[in-house]
Amino acid sequence: MIEPLAFRESRRLASVQTPVIPIVSRWIGESPGTVSLGQGIVSYGPPPQALEALKQFPAAADDHRYGPVEGLPELIAALEEKLRRENGIAGAPDSRVVVTAGSNLAFLNAILAVTDPGDEVIFQAPYYFNHEMAVVIAGCRAVAVATQPDGQLDIDAIKDAITPRTRAVITVSPNNPSGAVYPEAALRAVNALCAARGVFHIHDEAYEYFTYDGLPHFSPGSIAGASSHTISLYSLSKAYGFASWRIGYMVIPAGLWSAVNKIQDTDLICAPTISQRVAIEALKMGRSYCAQYVPELDHMRRLMFDALHDPSVPCDVSLCQGAFFYFIRVHTALDAMTLTERLIREHKVAVIPGSAFGKTTGCYVRISFGALDRGRAADGIGRLVNGLKAIAG
Ligand SMILES: Cc1ncc(COP(=O)(O)O)c(C=O)c1O
Repeated sequence: MIEPLAFRESRRLASVQTPVIPIVSRWIGESPGTVSLGQGIVSYGPPPQALEALKQFPAAADDHRYGPVEGLPELIAALEEKLRRENGIAGAPDSRVVVTAGSNLAFLNAILAVTDPGDEVIFQAPYYFNHEMAVVIAGCRAVAVATQPDGQLDIDAIKDAITPRTRAVITVSPNNPSGAVYPEAALRAVNALCAARGVFHIHDEAYEYFTYDGLPHFSPGSIAGASSHTISLYSLSKAYGFASWRIGYMVIPAGLWSAVNKIQDTDLICAPTISQRVAIEALKMGRSYCAQYVPELDHMRRLMFDALHDPSVPCDVSLCQGAFFYFIRVHTALDAMTLTERLIREHKVAVIPGSAFGKTTGCYVRISFGALDRGRAADGIGRLVNGLKAIAG
């Protein structure tokens, strides 16, 4: 008898965590009527005016062919202008803008461009899980440095974590999952540390337009002398309700273009031209499009904090400063996956387990309010509070 062939996935993938959102989505599907405080998405879609660009698309013959690897020239010009005006990033000749199919791909491109297998990349824990997954897929070691209890950076701990194998330090501000916004001084300190130790600073600004109480957003790519070691990542997914259109962009040191060109020519060729055409129109509206939704998010942010901060609720919570997340520590001996499944099945409210974000000691969950309106937010947080009291209290 012929032995069946043993097909197996690569060893590299064996240590990559299983994506958590599909697991939570399955539990939600099995529990109809669940209010989701899960996925980090917004409630709105792209600007209707931008979608007008679709009408011209079918007749544009060139737009059905492959486009430039780095993105359409009109889109790059609009992004360069935006980066200069809003982020203080000067651009060419020191750095280059590359349009990608979402900023997750920009992150993977960056990691592949600056690391070799076995290298180390420093994260702030809790971290955005897809970043950590990308680093492991690239055959590198993700080194987690704990942030302060309020989600702020611990610069000394980052300094101590740098070794001769370190190739990059990752920061995300406003932060997913903690909702922290890093002050300019902290980002300057990380950027200077990276410069001094010869490692890249990869900074994700996907939530740049989502800060509250007038907190300013700072781009470390704007620091004088930073362009040679700073990679800045941006996304249209949240700002313009563009998640399925897959448009993000990266600002890279000019010297990295050859490497990123090789990678993106292979993994993408070019971001979908139809999405780039809509993105060009969306950028004409600018941040004012997103700004109209921020007051409602702010309302839900306060409503949720007030509900969770009540001494009767068995959790620790810090006021969200940016993005649209709370990352709470629940006072229970249960693990976060079990707590999440029970919240969905018994209380019909979904959160994301904190273990996916690298918090494996203590029971943490992430709460997102980006896709809600105030009615659903009140309903969802009410269910969560009752669930936490019943399960963990
Ligand atoms: C910090 C952060 N970066 C990047 C992304 C992914 O963005 P994109 O849709 O542009 O790939 C997300 C999505 O949740 C995120 O939270």
